[in-house]
Amino acid sequence: MRLLLFLPLFIWSCTGAPSKAPAATEQLSQRPHDDHSYANLEQIHTQHLHLDLEVDFAAQTIYGIARHQMKNRGADTAIFDVKGLLIQKVTLGKKGAEKETDFTIGPMDKDSIIGQALLVNVDAKTTDVNIYYQTTEGSAALDWLDTNLTSSKTKPFLYTQGQAILTRTWIPLQDSPSNRITYSADVQVPSDLLALMSAENPTSLAPDGKYHFEMRKAIPSYLIALAVGDIGFKDLGQHCGVYAEKELLDACVEEFEDLPQMMKVAENLYGNYQWGRYDVLVLPYSFPFGGMENPMLTFANPTLLTGDKSLVSVVAHELAHSWSGNLVTNHSWSDLWLNEGTTVYFEQRIMEALRGKEIADILAQVEFGELQQTLAEMAADSALQDSKLHLDLVNRDPDIAMSDIAYVKGAFFFRTLEQTVGRKQLDLFLKRYFTHFAYQTITADRFIDFLERQLLSKTGADFNYREWIYEPGLPPNCVAIAAPRLDKIKSFANEFNAGKNPFKPKVKIKWVRKNGKRKKIKQQINIRYSDYLIQEWQLFIRALDPKTKIARLTALDHQFQFSQTQNSEILCDWFVLAAQSDYIFKIQEPLEAFLLKVGRRKFVLPIYEALSESPDGLKLAKRIFFRAKSNYHSVTKNSVWKVLYKKA
Ligand code: BES
Ligand code: ZN
Repeated sequence: MRLLLFLPLFIWSCTGAPSKAPAATEQLSQRPHDDHSYANLEQIHTQHLHLDLEVDFAAQTIYGIARHQMKNRGADTAIFDVKGLLIQKVTLGKKGAEKETDFTIGPMDKDSIIGQALLVNVDAKTTDVNIYYQTTEGSAALDWLDTNLTSSKTKPFLYTQGQAILTRTWIPLQDSPSNRITYSADVQVPSDLLALMSAENPTSLAPDGKYHFEMRKAIPSYLIALAVGDIGFKDLGQHCGVYAEKELLDACVEEFEDLPQMMKVAENLYGNYQWGRYDVLVLPYSFPFGGMENPMLTFANPTLLTGDKSLVSVVAHELAHSWSGNLVTNHSWSDLWLNEGTTVYFEQRIMEALRGKEIADILAQVEFGELQQTLAEMAADSALQDSKLHLDLVNRDPDIAMSDIAYVKGAFFFRTLEQTVGRKQLDLFLKRYFTHFAYQTITADRFIDFLERQLLSKTGADFNYREWIYEPGLPPNCVAIAAPRLDKIKSFANEFNAGKNPFKPKVKIKWVRKNGKRKKIKQQINIRYSDYLIQEWQLFIRALDPKTKIARLTALDHQFQFSQTQNSEILCDWFVLAAQSDYIFKIQEPLEAFLLKVGRRKFVLPIYEALSESPDGLKLAKRIFFRAKSNYHSVTKNSVWKVLYKKA
């Protein structure tokens, strides 16, 4: 083994300096910079990656060889990204004719965000670089679940989360979305477990636990994904299906039965699906996101299984990424909005086709309310510079970009553009965009160039895209959603906040005919939970006065059973409201049960944040987190930890 640690800082010139945006023409010819990768892609870059992996549950370690087939433009060094990996040796040449070579591992960046550079000595003709390695406890992409955290309770589970820059924590590679690679893998797992990847997948157990995978389309590294567990499969037709732990399979089939229809709608909107099959894998509860668009195999959170399809827009979202994100990929994390904003817009269009405009607009209105709250919080924290769509992320965690700005301001960019040029023109443009940039990466500048040429000059429309993309806040021309059905919800909240009870049963007099005689009867009308959408209840709860007396919150909870519901969207909003008063201590039991079970950051984090606003709440939060943290993926664990222990 030739492991040289901590060479001087000579290589770091490529990461530290802030990058100035070059002019658009210059950008088209050059590969723009990615602040979150050490890779010297201009000189040498991976085109195909083959992985030989052995998944060892007892040691919670993956032993691997990453075999890079590279395009070399005469480099003497190949630079890869690594974080939390042990590198054993590096060889050059094809399998069977390999020769060991020298390598160096650079120091960690100051804030431990991007990890370390792995520098491998190559010569100008080298095309094959093989890195022998193993993962460690610091491999933040990996979530190893003991049997007690799975549905089966008898088999363990492993999954990976690569986006944004975690793939380097389980595979040594050039971890920049600006480079696309095909990949294949040979994976050895325990023979009673199924292995799946973001690739062509098996549908049943291999008796020897050996699986071979192929992803034949070039993808960015953050989309390489692996899951291993006691997983079964059910086909939904139309090249769609679901994978899940066997106990959840039937519920998945019911919840996601509209997938084939969604697929048709999506294809009608923006062109043929390019990836062959589309399957959804429902993971255990610790999964930190609602969904993750790993190609051919979306990873999804089991909290989507509500029994009433009320949260399927998350699947519409991940499906939409098969175009926006996976076909056309943000070149760096500074333009995450080009992945997510486009996708939220696309998601809203799928939901409109599926459920009608009225309901789709209510979903969009919920998101818009979240954006307004995020903007208000940013203003209060003097952080409005981060409300630009295009972000400066030098020396910053790309996680910052994952906010309502990229998602909702991004989507409203497209809604407003739609209003400006008309739906027909926008759809033509987007379809062309997905075709033109398919299997490529996109920067804000390239996007603007295409927007000007293919939409604005053709239609003669004027659109303030620079303000939208490069200025903070929400431009004044942002479209407003008219959702008249929400007036009722607003009036409920107003009445409640004014001390009245809008849900008191109303007595209605009704005339009926009995034995030939007209008779007056009294009818009691109750407002039921099921009379309104989950999203309407969310808007109601969010509009309630946090200073409401505990007795009134108790009565409301008693009537609608908010703290007992199985719907995590409602639970999350209810716990956040409750945490703003002492009511939270009355519902501590369901609160603890929720935080111990669910690891989705979007739910868990706002609850911890709300709790940490008061001394007693913070104490409770820390006590729960102490028990819950081993149930969370590192993504959630680290975010919560910052809220509870690093507050200024
Ligand atoms: N690709 C994202 C998740 C992501 C973004 C992970 C950035 C890491 C960095 C995924 O498509 C997503 O947006 N998930 C959302 C779904 C929602 C917006 C419908 C989620 O998990 O909540
Ligand atoms: Zn997304």
